[in-house]
Amino acid sequence: MCAKRIIWSLLIAYCSASCSEKDDYSYKNENTTFSLPKLPYSYNALEPVLWTQVIYYHHKKEHKNIINELNDYIKNNQDFAGQTVTDLLINYGLQDDGIANYAGGHYNHCLLWWIYTLADCTKEEPEGKLLTKIEEKWGNFTDFVGEFTKTANSVFGSGWVWLCADSEGNLEIKAKKNEYSPLAGGECYPILGIDLWEHAYYLKFLWERKEYVSMWWTIVDWELIEYWYETYAANGLPVPV
Ligand SMILES: [Fe+2]
Repeated sequence: MCAKRIIWSLLIAYCSASCSEKDDYSYKNENTTFSLPKLPYSYNALEPVLWTQVIYYHHKKEHKNIINELNDYIKNNQDFAGQTVTDLLINYGLQDDGIANYAGGHYNHCLLWWIYTLADCTKEEPEGKLLTKIEEKWGNFTDFVGEFTKTANSVFGSGWVWLCADSEGNLEIKAKKNEYSPLAGGECYPILGIDLWEHAYYLKFLWERKEYVSMWWTIVDWELIEYWYETYAANGLPVPV
């Protein structure tokens, strides 16, 4: 076994995940300078659905690179300084491609780390107001999953698919290319998103993106998505990060 593989095996073995491992969500959206947020669980917590290596490189390299780009972009465009990532997106996300991609990428990934939870530690579907609104729009949860999955599988190239709420709390599915966020311009308030860039899945799933999309549902933290919907999105507010 090569040294690299041994190190990964030791890392996986050292950190044993349990359902109580995920931190409590408590963000307030106060930051106007941007740094890599701590993962709310260990790097191996999403095994076997997403390998430790996938999460490690996605968080520590891909997300960090986006934050570096965002900070450099703001340093060179002082009109954008002193604003939170949600204000940047709402105010400039439709007019400025740098803000759309860099602020969008930072916001998207901040949400993503919380959207995930440990496999086998989540319920199969949401409850309460979120489920009511899903049923209002798609008839039932299964049909919503089918529509979201179909949209994700039809995305060409790199992008995301989101479940988001308009200013009246009505739910929509939105496909976005690159790192564009549905929050840009206040179009709608995202609560659930799947990252369809190759870096999000390729190490494990290779070219089988449909398999990744299918397995992704098993690590969605529905309790948190319900909370985000009821507390923020349904009231026309962005989820704070
Ligand atoms: Fe990503």
